[in-house]
Amino acid sequence: MLLFCNLVCVVIGLVYGQETRPLLRTNSTTLPSISTTELPTSTLLSTSPSESPANTTTEVPTTTQAPITTKPPRPDEGSWTVTEKNVTCIRADLAIEFEIPSQNATIFLSPNATSTRSSCSLSNTTQALILEYDDYILTFEFEKDATSTYVRNVSFIYSSFRPDVFYNDTKLFLVKNGNSYLCKTTDFIHLGNATMYIYTIQLQAFATADETGFGKIEECELDDLVNDIIPIAVACALAGLTILVLIVYLIMRKSPQRGYTSV
Ligand SMILES: *[C@@H]1O[C@H](CO)[C@@H](O)[C@H](O)[C@H]1NC(C)=O
Ligand SMILES: *[C@@H]1O[C@H](CO)[C@@H](O)[C@H](O)[C@H]1NC(C)=O
Ligand SMILES: *[C@@H]1O[C@H](CO)[C@@H](O)[C@H](O)[C@H]1NC(C)=O
Ligand SMILES: *[C@@H]1O[C@H](CO)[C@@H](O)[C@H](O)[C@H]1NC(C)=O
Ligand SMILES: *[C@@H]1O[C@H](CO)[C@@H](O)[C@H](O)[C@H]1NC(C)=O
Ligand SMILES: *[C@@H]1O[C@H](CO)[C@@H](O)[C@H](O)[C@H]1NC(C)=O
Ligand SMILES: *[C@@H]1O[C@H](CO)[C@@H](O)[C@H](O)[C@H]1NC(C)=O
Ligand SMILES: *[C@@H]1O[C@H](CO)[C@@H](O)[C@H](O)[C@H]1NC(C)=O
Ligand SMILES: *[C@@H]1O[C@H](CO)[C@@H](O)[C@H](O)[C@H]1NC(C)=O
Repeated sequence: MLLFCNLVCVVIGLVYGQETRPLLRTNSTTLPSISTTELPTSTLLSTSPSESPANTTTEVPTTTQAPITTKPPRPDEGSWTVTEKNVTCIRADLAIEFEIPSQNATIFLSPNATSTRSSCSLSNTTQALILEYDDYILTFEFEKDATSTYVRNVSFIYSSFRPDVFYNDTKLFLVKNGNSYLCKTTDFIHLGNATMYIYTIQLQAFATADETGFGKIEECELDDLVNDIIPIAVACALAGLTILVLIVYLIMRKSPQRGYTSV
């Protein structure tokens, strides 16, 4: 039992370590809303020097900035909506990075990308979010059937060095009709020879006129895992502690008796 708990705690430590690592990357992490786990740690970082007693600790902030610059920043989150005939059919909040090894390129989807070529009515059952910026075009092609909505094709056209098209046409981000897809845990999807790193994604298509924001959220499994980790960790620590105290108590109770009988 104790061993199991310790194991779980170690695993949690590993996962949690991975989660908090991107935190150190940049100042701008305070801008996007993102996950609640980032806030406590970042405030801890900033308050710990000021809380420590002497005036001499004023140098600390400068040393914490040093490691920040060595890590690449994460992409800023952008928000897009597609509206036709007064109906906003597509909503998207995205923080995404593309890596194209063959062209040695790392591209952050710009929050300033335009969505003007998007469409609410490619067909009765398909819509498209088309984001354009400088030298790339990102397209999410949505489709719905009787029960679900999903992205049926993600494509990324990059034409800086030489035009290249990368895509993945497996069903992705599937939710029940009317719901939105949300994932805040960094994950990646291969688009052929390119890789799409997703830091934050919330998507909804086929929204109707009466909706003013994202519909009911369906959160990705990775998020659920991360969300579950903290309660599990606390429970584990408590259980471990309780058992430890119990064992110590039992030993303490036993040992004097042995002492008496042996004497
Ligand atoms: C961090 O923020 C400071 C000021 O707020 C700015 O001068 C510095 O360039 C930022 N560093 C990074 C890596 O964004
Ligand atoms: C600490 O700061 C206060 C006010 O800024 C100052 O009066 C005091 O001399 C400082 N103490 C030391 C040890 O620097
Ligand atoms: C869109 O909504 C505005 C205000 O609600 C209304 O004045 C306008 O006529 C609507 N346009 C269409 C095409 O429905
Ligand atoms: C990618 O960039 C690195 C360093 O900038 C360089 O050494 C390498 O040759 C480049 N590779 C390609 C395929 O351009
Ligand atoms: C987006 O546009 C704003 C204002 O035009 C500009 O300040 C900002 O730097 C741009 N961001 C990016 C990532 O290009
Ligand atoms: C699309 O929907 C319209 C109105 O609901 C209908 O008249 C039309 O037949 C549909 N087209 C297809 C291809 O299903
Ligand atoms: C997905 O998009 C790419 C790029 O536009 C295209 O070549 C491919 O045929 C599309 N796949 C499907 C199933 O439509
Ligand atoms: C498309 O994405 C799926 C799910 O991540 C992955 O299994 C598949 O290999 C990808 N296909 C391509 C062509 O990259
Ligand atoms: C993309 O990958 C395929 C095999 O998966 C390979 O044959 C092709 O040369 C690659 N293209 C580039 C531009 O690297």
